[in-house]
Amino acid sequence: MKYLNHITEAIGNTPLVKLNNVTKGIKPTILAKVEYLNPGNSVKDRMAVKMIEDAEKAGVLKPGGTIIEGTSGNTGMGLALAAIAKGYKCIFTLADKQSKEKMDILRAVGAEVVVCPTNVSPDHPDSYYSVAKRLNEEIPNSFYPNQYDNMSNWAAHYESTGPEIWEQTEGKVTHFITGVGTGGTVTGISRYLKEQNPELITVGIDTYGSVFKKYKETGIFDENEIYSYATEGIGEDILPKNVDFDVIDLFLKVTDKDGAVMTRRLAKEEGLFVGWSCGTAVHGALEYARENNLTEDDVIVVLLPDHGTRYLGKIYNDDWMRAQGYID
Ligand SMILES: Cc1ncc(COP(=O)(O)O)c(C=O)c1O
Repeated sequence: MKYLNHITEAIGNTPLVKLNNVTKGIKPTILAKVEYLNPGNSVKDRMAVKMIEDAEKAGVLKPGGTIIEGTSGNTGMGLALAAIAKGYKCIFTLADKQSKEKMDILRAVGAEVVVCPTNVSPDHPDSYYSVAKRLNEEIPNSFYPNQYDNMSNWAAHYESTGPEIWEQTEGKVTHFITGVGTGGTVTGISRYLKEQNPELITVGIDTYGSVFKKYKETGIFDENEIYSYATEGIGEDILPKNVDFDVIDLFLKVTDKDGAVMTRRLAKEEGLFVGWSCGTAVHGALEYARENNLTEDDVIVVLLPDHGTRYLGKIYNDDWMRAQGYID
């Protein structure tokens, strides 16, 4: 019989899918790494399982323990699936800007969800970072993975996603483009791909309101760059240890609106019912290809982190899109 012992064994080996319609007038081949086909519907399943397994090996996560994490939703889902497989409890802190669907999904897989205000600084006691840290101190036998600074995060992508992309493209990938949040995805994949081909160019997609682009270009952490924005999962007001600026050649910023509009186009024109940061990454990839005169010989891999169901009340809701001024 062919079966898996648990749904977490279905993580990884996601397909690369060619974009055919939103790419009209663009010369390079653009291939999307469709990460919503992971069982938790996001790229984060990969690193969530590795953070848990590495913590078990290090003895910091013990039987019957509680996993406490600050998440924009997707890491929580991956952690919850692994926690079910292994018998742990989960408590997740989320900023209130995250979509309601993400909170409901986490509750559906048995997690406790604590909603925290978005518009406070990371060191404010009510921020979702601080609340996660505090709960970890208060609750006995609890484990705080801290995806921002946990090196198992980038390592998961170095071990799985990077090699998958290299093999699927038969080494022909010339550019890798992805949104940057904790940085685990970009750092793990780019580090692996650049080891295979040092000429490969990696573009990190950033949001307006995030510190990454300016930091890469000037080395300055500029607090004036920080303001709240709507795109979920990418951009930061901190410098996570998982972001290795040396393996990211440049950052491109994409507006909330451009990302949202492209997300809807991916669903309608490519049949890819994906999340917001996916449209953001594809918009950035097309802009990069156009502005840098890439040719038919170039192969861009753009990573699509999650699924459209998490944004039904936002991107895929016409009234919400109109209210934001994203569509007429
Ligand atoms: C929807 C979404 N896109 C992109 C990312 C960014 O991935 P990473 O944290 O590996 O940089 C995240 C991370 O939370 C996410 O939730």
